[in-house]
Amino acid sequence: MTHPEPVPATPLVSVRDVTFSYGGPAVLHHVSYDVMPGQFTGIVGPSGSGKTTLLKLLLGTAKPTRGTVERVPGLAFSYVPQLETVNWNFPVTVADCVLMSRKPRGLNPRPSRSERAEVSEVLERLGIADLSRRHIRELSGGQQQRMFLARALVRRPSLLLLDEPTSGVDVQTRHEVLHLLDDLNRDGLAIVLTTHDLNGMASHLPHLLALQHRVVASGPPHEVIVPSVIEEVFGARMEILQHLGLPLVVDSVPTESSTVSDLRSSAAITDPANGSVGVR
Ligand SMILES: Nc1ncnc2c1ncn2[C@@H]1O[C@H](COP(=O)(O)OP(=O)(O)OP(=O)(O)O)[C@@H](O)[C@H]1O
Ligand SMILES: [Mg+2]
Repeated sequence: MTHPEPVPATPLVSVRDVTFSYGGPAVLHHVSYDVMPGQFTGIVGPSGSGKTTLLKLLLGTAKPTRGTVERVPGLAFSYVPQLETVNWNFPVTVADCVLMSRKPRGLNPRPSRSERAEVSEVLERLGIADLSRRHIRELSGGQQQRMFLARALVRRPSLLLLDEPTSGVDVQTRHEVLHLLDDLNRDGLAIVLTTHDLNGMASHLPHLLALQHRVVASGPPHEVIVPSVIEEVFGARMEILQHLGLPLVVDSVPTESSTVSDLRSSAAITDPANGSVGVR
C-alpha cells in the first residue's frame, strides 16, 4: 500500500527577506522566518536588537520597508504586550478586563451568558478565578501576567505573541508562566515570545531565533545558545555550561564594572542582558 506524501505545513506567518526601518537606518536586515503551526519560539537578543519590531511585523502593526510578511487568511492571533506599557489605573475588574478583550459581536456590547462562562473557564484554567472581581490595580506581577494571558486566550487564537512575558517577575512566577505557556502549546497553540532571559526562559523553549538586527541563528537551544552565536548577538564573551541537559550561560570574564562578589567568584552565572542572576 502506498502512503500519500505528507503535505508540508503552511506557515501561519511567513517573513521573507524583510528589511525594516522606522525612518532612519534599518533596524532589521534581510530577516526571513516562518512561524509554523504549533511552534513555540523565543526571540532572543539584547535591548534594541529588534525583537519587538519583529513582533510588530508578525502582527502587521509595522509594515516591511522591503520584503514581505504573509499571514494565512483569517489567522486568529493575540498579542500580550510588555506589562510596563499598561495603564493599571483603568477602573475595571479582572473579569471585565478579560471580557473587554473578546471579539466584537455585532452592535450589542453586553456580554452574553456564554461569554461570561467562557471568561470564567479561562480564569479557572489560569488559576485566577478567585480574583475575577478584583480591581486590576490590586494584582501581583504574576497575576497581572495571567490576566493578560486570559485576555489573549478568550480570543481563541491560533498564534499567541508575547513581548517579554517574564520581565520584572520573580523566579516562581517565571516558572508558572513558562508552564502555562507549555501547556497551551501542547494543546496546539503556536507561541512566539521575546525574552532577554537566556537561562531562565530561552534555554527551556523548543526553538529559538537569535536576533541582532538580523537573524544570527535559528534552531533548538543547544544549537543557538553556543558561544559563537551568543557572543555575536550580545557582544560579550560568554561561556556555556551544560546543566541538567540545558545550556547555561556563564559570564566567565570579569570586567572593570564587575562587582566585588563577581570578582571573588570564579564565574558568575549571568543573564547577559539583565546582569547576574546567581553566583557559583
Ligand atoms: N517607534 C519607533 N521609532 C523609532 N525608532 C524605534 C521605534 N521603536 C523602536 N525603535 C528603535 O528600533 C530599534 C529596535 O527596537 P526594538 O524595540 O525592536 O528592540 P528590542 O529588541 O525589542 O529592545 P528591548 O529589549 O529593549 O525591548 C532600537 O534602536 C529602537 O530605538
Ligand atoms: Mg522590546
